Amino acid sequence: MSQFSPLSSLPPDALLGLMTAYREDARAEKYDLGVGVYKDDNGHTPVLTAVSKAEARMLEVQTTKVYEGPRGNVDFCAAIEDFVFGAGAAARTEGRTLSFTAPGGCGALSLGVGLMRRIGVKKVWVSNPTWPNHPKVVQSAGLGTADYRYADPVTGTADRAAMIEDLSKAERGDGVIVQGPCHNPTGIDLTIEDWRALGAFTKERGLVVMLDVAYHGFAHGLDADIAGVRAFLDAAGEAMISYSCSKNFGLYRERAGCFLALGETPEGIAAASTHVADISRATWSMPPAHGAGIVATILGDAALRAEWEAELTSMRERMISLRRALSGELVQRTGSNLLASLTTQNGMFSQLPVAPEGAKQLRETSGLYMPGSGRINIAGLNMKDIPRVAEIIATVI
Ligand SMILES: Cc1ncc(COP(=O)(O)O)c(C=O)c1O
Repeated sequence: MSQFSPLSSLPPDALLGLMTAYREDARAEKYDLGVGVYKDDNGHTPVLTAVSKAEARMLEVQTTKVYEGPRGNVDFCAAIEDFVFGAGAAARTEGRTLSFTAPGGCGALSLGVGLMRRIGVKKVWVSNPTWPNHPKVVQSAGLGTADYRYADPVTGTADRAAMIEDLSKAERGDGVIVQGPCHNPTGIDLTIEDWRALGAFTKERGLVVMLDVAYHGFAHGLDADIAGVRAFLDAAGEAMISYSCSKNFGLYRERAGCFLALGETPEGIAAASTHVADISRATWSMPPAHGAGIVATILGDAALRAEWEAELTSMRERMISLRRALSGELVQRTGSNLLASLTTQNGMFSQLPVAPEGAKQLRETSGLYMPGSGRINIAGLNMKDIPRVAEIIATVI
């Protein structure tokens, strides 16, 4: 008997299966709206020029590959604190913040869930729908999950009342994960008022919140996109934040992420810091350096930073134009006002009112790939295909 015989195989990952099926589809006309990464007009996920230049510079000056220490790249940590809390935030000088380099946004989420566990959190609330890795990370840490309603299916906007009604059932000390800009999979974001109300509500209810920022700069711009997070932090006074540089720096495979926290007291943050270091030590021992080094190099140099911001702006503007064009075509073909909300949604993803059978039909009859949830990656489109893509999608709406 094999030592592995207690294991039975898990079902295959649906999204990876979809990617393979797309690659193997021999039809000349096919469209991949299932992929979870940014693509340019040629269907390519580029290395940003600011990134290539930063890498070249790093190679020139690098003299060692020795471990950086438990927090990883401290310049990177400071730069992400600038983004999240603000350069002059009083909480930073008061010792009420912490930051650790982590392997991607997902590594940062794991640190946060690990810290929740040590705080005594038993159950973590996630939005319905959410990025499937949220419940996976929580459950892998041995915690339970529950979900809260997030989006209004009729208007295609956030439903704060439903969200708060569901979170009212949470017990004091429960955890909550809330996504920052460009909610995955709906593209539906909270307003500043929503953020403020949610911060006050979670504080009053004693909920332990982690904000997941994975698409900073993909919605309206660096400042505008973090305003909701700051409004939440102002109202709540405490929170954890996971930050990913995978999308906004195009550093998917480098695993550049940051785990941050804001606390009411420096003592609380100092203690939390020792626990984050301990969890990090027991999980990957030391965080990866390369991606964080690239980000620190870019953000620490005015010219590289300007170049990166311009590239980020062009990714964002491309997605906004595609949203407008797709929405216009779909509204015209289906008469559905819900599809007008594609233009008020943000980032790479939106969820179309397409049933799983509809998604299957699109794949089989028209070579258009999207998961059964109806989530589409706007960046997987290009302008010239939009009329045809809209024509195909309209057949199942
Ligand atoms: C909502 C959300 N959070 C976090 C991540 C983290 O990504 P990564 O671990 O690649 O940085 C993603 C990536 O798709 C995401 O969609």
